[in-house]
Amino acid sequence: MNYQFAAELAGRTIVITGGGRSIGREMANAAAAAKMKVAIMEVNQVNLEKAVAELKSAGGDVTGYVVDLQVESQINEAIAKIEKDLGKIEVFVNNAAFHDSAELLESSLEMWNKTFAINTAAPFLCIKAILPGMIARKSGSIINIGTVNSKMMIGSDSYTASKAALHAITRTVAVRYGKHNIRCNTIVPGTIATEVWQERIDRNPAVFENLKSWYPLGRVGKPSDITAAVLYLASDQAPWMTGTEFLVDGGLLAGFAPMYPVVEGTD
Ligand SMILES: NC(=O)c1ccc[n+]([C@@H]2O[C@H](COP(=O)([O-])OP(=O)(O)OC[C@H]3O[C@@H](n4cnc5c(N)ncnc54)[C@H](O)[C@@H]3O)[C@@H](O)[C@H]2O)c1
Repeated sequence: MNYQFAAELAGRTIVITGGGRSIGREMANAAAAAKMKVAIMEVNQVNLEKAVAELKSAGGDVTGYVVDLQVESQINEAIAKIEKDLGKIEVFVNNAAFHDSAELLESSLEMWNKTFAINTAAPFLCIKAILPGMIARKSGSIINIGTVNSKMMIGSDSYTASKAALHAITRTVAVRYGKHNIRCNTIVPGTIATEVWQERIDRNPAVFENLKSWYPLGRVGKPSDITAAVLYLASDQAPWMTGTEFLVDGGLLAGFAPMYPVVEGTD
């Protein structure tokens, strides 16, 4: 994908959690293409090293930090190191997530807690660690990656609940720290074809084909569908956007494409 982004992003520091693969990896690619200084916080060392090596060989200014976002001390140490290595953090993207595919009756408190630790507590801890610097500089853009699941029942109980809480934190941060010129927004993706779907694809190779009909634009998303929204919210082109839920969902939440012909009797 050939991206074109706001020139003022060049030289700014962006931190992306979970950037070792999939959507986060593509965000890192786009940010590097915008000449940003990119830091990736990722638990999977193999994927992290591969992503950093590939992005660097394409000319990107990208540094990797191995972090388990379930551990508060690791988060704080990594953020302190990023500030030391790369300077002030202007943009922070809470992208990493965990998805328990078991339904409520088959899930467990352990999986519920893990889901909330990665999807909700980690963004809270990351925001807590970066805010003092952003407040001191009176500038910052925080982007939380939510999901359409938090807007209606689509699947997974704990994932849905943890992401709905993340959407709520976006609002509290946006309202509380807006006076310091800090913006906080949620991007709300629909289905994106990434590695997280692999187990589901193994069980049903036609899963994306089957999901297509629900999307008014007739396809599921790809990681690059999300990245432009991230860099737009990161840039000075979105100076009055905060506290929003920015839908990037192929029209899914606008309505169920297979439903209206049934209602109108034209099916
Ligand atoms: N793929 C979709 O259909 C879809 C739809 C809506 C929203 N989203 C959201 O988009 C974001 C990215 O999704 P994806 O499909 O790229 O997911 P993914 O599972 O492919 O990638 C997530 C990354 O986060 C990392 N990660 C997980 N736990 C971590 C931890 N404890 N510490 C550090 N890193 C950790 C993983 O190693 C992985 O690299 C997530 O927030 C997800 O909820 C995805």
